[in-house]
Amino acid sequence: MQSFDYFNPTHIVFGQDRLAELDKLVPQNAKVLVLYGGGSVKKFGTLDKVLNGLGQREVIEFGGIEPNPQFDTLMRAVELVRKENIDFLLAVGGGSVMDGTKFVSAAAPYEGSEESLLQHGFSPLPIEKAVPLATVATLPATGSEMNMGAVISYQGGKFPVMSPMLFPKFSFLDPTLTFSLPKVQVANGVVDAFVHILEQYVTFPVNASVQDRTAEGLLKTLIETGPVTLAEPENYDARATLVWSATWALNGFIGAGVPQDWSTHMIGHELTALFGIDHAQSLAIIQPSLWALRKDKKRAKLLQYAERVWDITEGDEEERIERAISKTRAFFESLGVKTRLSEYGVKREQVSDVINALEAHGMVAMSETGDLTLETSRQILEHSYA
Ligand code: NZQ
Ligand code: ZN
Repeated sequence: MQSFDYFNPTHIVFGQDRLAELDKLVPQNAKVLVLYGGGSVKKFGTLDKVLNGLGQREVIEFGGIEPNPQFDTLMRAVELVRKENIDFLLAVGGGSVMDGTKFVSAAAPYEGSEESLLQHGFSPLPIEKAVPLATVATLPATGSEMNMGAVISYQGGKFPVMSPMLFPKFSFLDPTLTFSLPKVQVANGVVDAFVHILEQYVTFPVNASVQDRTAEGLLKTLIETGPVTLAEPENYDARATLVWSATWALNGFIGAGVPQDWSTHMIGHELTALFGIDHAQSLAIIQPSLWALRKDKKRAKLLQYAERVWDITEGDEEERIERAISKTRAFFESLGVKTRLSEYGVKREQVSDVINALEAHGMVAMSETGDLTLETSRQILEHSYA
């Protein structure tokens, strides 16, 4: 571990029934746009609580942000922000609503082409202004509530958007707002958070003991709490643990100063864009196969993961790594998340479509060392049928 900066300005308001505190946190004279998704926040009463919390402020609503938020939908919100001179954005929803709101925050004051904001990958956007935003998170998974990233869908691709100006000013994390989630979304949340940790941890050692031990603690916590919160959706303590784990999995702390490998996410994004596979499901398909093919590169960290997370100490190196990969796959499957591409109805001949999409999006040299080529991606995808 060399030197690094760590910065996270998002204020967290954690706990049950605290939405009345919105009144203290949103500027008194703000004109607020409340953004939400397909209607779950109306159905389960969250929107009413938010509107109450905003008191007498002038509020406009923008609903209909879809899972994997689409550029065209978000541009309608951008027009509204410009037309109505909105000066505060409040996202109420899951990762898609939070991410979409971040894009609106960056795009509304931007004078260049809004499409061009999708072309910067993991580099910071060239923006000087952003509309202040905050979130009320209803789905524990992405960590978007405490990070500066978003993923926006556009013309059959998924594009990362990053800027320190896009950290939420504050985020409300009320575990009870997530009790209404269908089981599949809870399982998705556990898997997404788990893989966020893996992408920042299973690379190569750099003596980052604090980040490593924190990552291992979070992984063990998810292994422990995932099945409980799935089986007992209204167990407050278990759900609170999932919410906080998911936030910590991607709030930047465990990734500070360490190598990162986002290849599972990048290949997974193409599976979502092409075949409509949920984000977390796409990760469950790719991660075990990626390791099977890349175990030599990741040997030291896979052995560390095997020992410290799964308590695997017996057998030779190869056996320990194999068992760690199998345990990971079995964990995803125990939550009801399938891990083979064939189980999602994708045919072998469609692997070429994924490779073409990766190429079109410039994903030709991925991983912690930039050596994961299209050919390796093809092998990973083919392996994921086995
Ligand atoms: O749209 P509504 O009606 O609200 O329903 C949503 C949606 O159908 C529903 N839902 C959310 N909260 C609920 C609820 N249903 C009942 N009760 C509640 N409390 O859940 C469905 C899925 O929502 P979505 O926001 O799409 O899920 P998630 O939070 O998993 O977000 C996925 C998106 O985040 C991106 C993904 O690529 C994907 O587009 N990611 C963002 C990241 C980031 N910003 O750092 C990192 C991640 O790796 C990920 O890529
Ligand atoms: Zn993810």
